[in-house]
Amino acid sequence: MITLTEWRPCAVWALALCGLTAAVPAGAAAREQVVLTVRADAPGPKIDRHIFGQFAEHLGRGIYGGIWVGPGSPIPNTDGYRNDVLAALKALHVPVIRWPGGCFADDYHWRDGIGPRAQRPARINTNWGGVVEPNSFGTSEFLDFAALIGADPYLTGNVGSGTPREMADWVEYITSDSPSTLAQLRRANGRRRRWSLAFLLMANEAWGCGGNMRPEYYADLFRRYATFVRDHAPKGITLVASGPHDDDYHWTQAVMARAGDQMDALSLHYYTIPTGNWQHKGAAIGFGEDQWASTLQAAERIDEYITRDAAIMDRYDPKKRVALFVDEWGTWYDPAPGPDRGVLYQQNSLRDALVAAISLDIFARHADRVRMANIAQMVNVLQAMILTRGDRMILTPTYWVFRMYVPFQGATYLPVKIATPSYRYGTVVLPAVDATAARDASGTIHLALVNLDPHHAAAIAVRIDGAEAHSAAGQVLTAAAMDAHDTFADPHAIAPVPFGGKRRGGRLVFRLPAKSVAVVAVH
Ligand code: AHR
Repeated sequence: MITLTEWRPCAVWALALCGLTAAVPAGAAAREQVVLTVRADAPGPKIDRHIFGQFAEHLGRGIYGGIWVGPGSPIPNTDGYRNDVLAALKALHVPVIRWPGGCFADDYHWRDGIGPRAQRPARINTNWGGVVEPNSFGTSEFLDFAALIGADPYLTGNVGSGTPREMADWVEYITSDSPSTLAQLRRANGRRRRWSLAFLLMANEAWGCGGNMRPEYYADLFRRYATFVRDHAPKGITLVASGPHDDDYHWTQAVMARAGDQMDALSLHYYTIPTGNWQHKGAAIGFGEDQWASTLQAAERIDEYITRDAAIMDRYDPKKRVALFVDEWGTWYDPAPGPDRGVLYQQNSLRDALVAAISLDIFARHADRVRMANIAQMVNVLQAMILTRGDRMILTPTYWVFRMYVPFQGATYLPVKIATPSYRYGTVVLPAVDATAARDASGTIHLALVNLDPHHAAAIAVRIDGAEAHSAAGQVLTAAAMDAHDTFADPHAIAPVPFGGKRRGGRLVFRLPAKSVAVVAVH
């Protein structure tokens, strides 16, 4: 079996060592030469469709105004859910949505969000601005929303300020088919059939807003909660433990050692911050090339975190039964001035599209262990798919990447060897081109190509071992400016356009524009 390490990109000067000769169209500068070899004859693991998952928290306009406007709203809606957002999300084939937080989750008590909406209590959202939480979007609204767009529901249970009884009751309320009082309460609230619950995380960021715990203490709590949350669902619930952030390997080690046998998955959180400084993170738009480069470099850091967490997990779980769920990831910038300041609303540019693409590529390369990822967040918060204002909606560059990558959901990973020049800026040195390949259930091979260099197009020659390749067609997302983005005044400033490659000399050749993401199907 070919290891992932052997399939890391190699420098262009080492093409001979890679056993390849670049087939670059005449006239292309040497620095643009990129050679890919796709091993269709050596397929890897399945890319779990859940790595294209989403996260929706009660934060700013993530839920209220973004997804939920209520049945009485003048904004066109279906039972309270925005029609425009529903349609956009359906096109993404969202496989899973995590809810209700985030930090919100360990302060959330599920009984606040059931029953007639007019009678639900109003609470203070202590994590996010102290605003009043009306609880109009609760358990049934979330589970019905997930079902409407065809996504699996992923709940975050309250360990920080809740109890095992509270969590067990929530699961029984949702999943029990019995005549128990909790199941009858659900029926009285209008839901006769049980819902199916796919995933349950026990505490969000237990090391921080979830309770500021030590990993040893949390591991014991996880065991305790896992004991009492009975599984009423026929398909079973995947139990997820609160995992580390960034490079906190001690957390991974301590929790795996003490509770690895009780969990089905461990979560990992990592945010891409241009400057690496939480006090001055950098702006979402209007940045220079220094922050283009540092952002992409920061995004690639998750490869090392996953690699090292996976190595720790291998010690306790060599058969890889326990999955790693990267259930919060994405860019996090300084807030822009305006009414949304303080609620993590940010613009989303071509740079975010590249962060999304290289992150998804990294998750695919780790498909043997990474079996879910949830970008933060779905609408109006951080690296969002969708931004809304009143009745208007923008689909962000990140949205288009997720849409272009749909064919990779559930496809079989094909190893790719990349011989690429570097993209350099200051002290940043990155492979200029990144790529992922996969074969879908119908046998079609799909290629994702990312050009990190904001100045130079890349001439790419692709050899596919073990499959015929006559042509390739798909879409590319690019723009003139590094921070190209839509606005409500100009909602179609950046969107994918047709893109393809031709067969030449036994290879598929592409001219991939500077700062771009392309996905093509090979025929
Ligand atoms: O996504 C925003 C916040 O970031 C989440 O609530 C929390 O889990 C993380 O720190």
